[in-house]
Amino acid sequence: MKYWLAGAAVAVFAGAAWTVMAATPQETVDQRIAGMKGLGGNLQAAAKAVTPAEVQAKLGAAIAFAETIPTLFPKGTGIGDKGVTKTRALQEIWAKPAEFKAASDALVNALKAANAAAGDKAKLDAAFGEVRKSCGGCHTPFRGPEIE
Ligand code: HEC
Repeated sequence: MKYWLAGAAVAVFAGAAWTVMAATPQETVDQRIAGMKGLGGNLQAAAKAVTPAEVQAKLGAAIAFAETIPTLFPKGTGIGDKGVTKTRALQEIWAKPAEFKAASDALVNALKAANAAAGDKAKLDAAFGEVRKSCGGCHTPFRGPEIE
């Protein structure tokens, strides 16, 4: 009985350590896809928001995510990499890291400009146009064909 309990405790500990420390390559992919979807959701909500404060709350969340984008693509998590079964991440991301970072910075800057334009409808609409362009500015060179 004592032995069994100790074994169970070790198994529980090992399970916890696994979830905290060692995301598999595919889990890393799944997490960043979920984050990208959240980014899209925050932008839609910002576009529909009525008060400047609401716009800025949604854009603030979008900015916080956008600033992390380069860290969400560790080497070994692209199309063709071991353990990765479902991703659109092209190997160009790791072949051209400076360009990938620049595309990410362009999104952050466009989001910040939109944030500063909250409250001025015409300026905000124009800024949203730039934000959308910056999504394409990264997707076109760095995202592969749709999966499924
Ligand atoms: C710096 C590069 C970069 C920027 C900027 C960027 N994305 Fe992405 N995005 C990617 C990559 C690469 C993937 C594919 C990730 C994967 O499959 O592992 C992706 C995936 C997605 C997905 C997941 C669904 C799918 O079919 O791929 C959505 C949704 C998405 N992006 C929305 C956006 C929106 C909206 C913006 C702009 C507000 C944006 N992204 C800006 C690189 C970027």
